[in-house]
Amino acid sequence: MPSPLSLGVLISGSGTNLQAIIDAIERDELTAALRVVISNRPDAYGLMRARHHGLPAVVIPHKDFSSRQAFEAKLIKTLHDYQVELVVLAGFMRLLSPFFIRTFPQRIVNIHPALLPAFPGIHAQRQAVERGVRIAGATVHFVDEETDHGPIIMQAAVPVYPDDTEESLGARILTQEHRIYPQAIQLFAEGRLEVRGGRVIVHNEIRSQTATLRSPESV
Ligand code: GRF
Repeated sequence: MPSPLSLGVLISGSGTNLQAIIDAIERDELTAALRVVISNRPDAYGLMRARHHGLPAVVIPHKDFSSRQAFEAKLIKTLHDYQVELVVLAGFMRLLSPFFIRTFPQRIVNIHPALLPAFPGIHAQRQAVERGVRIAGATVHFVDEETDHGPIIMQAAVPVYPDDTEESLGARILTQEHRIYPQAIQLFAEGRLEVRGGRVIVHNEIRSQTATLRSPESV
């Protein structure tokens, strides 16, 4: 049996994606070990989720550091101390500098609540509603030095309805986030992801010539 992939999850808030990862590990759907959860905010509810499952939960308040580099040096040291192999950003609300990103080349993943490259940045769900797209979704991607930009690992699409709000669409997207984040990490754990020319090759992926999401469904 290969040893499980060692994860470090970075959060700033509620941590529902963290919870989905914990649950997938506990259900044996994700061959990984969650070594440490780190929050830059002491009040992040995700810390409680981690502790509830007996996982190390560390607070590294960015405000305690005089520079971004000093804050990131502490993050890096903590991730190394826990021998983390894959850094998982799950609602972590700090931008990471090239200094941090180059420390873990193609070993940082993020989830964004939009079908990238559409709607990067904050309030992606609101951007989708205001633009009137009929299909929105979530993206898991490797992190590179541009925000919400790196090679795309997995996406899931959801319909958007005319009476949707940022909140109602956000909830629909979040349900899919909780499905695809553990699945994308599992592909990494299985060694099935290869980055080539800014794109991700998923080895042995299932293909379909007919799978489709149309929205509106009937006209
Ligand atoms: C999610 O919408 C995720 O896509 C974005 O931040 C939010 C985190 O939510 N990056 P949670 O803390 O996992 O509940």
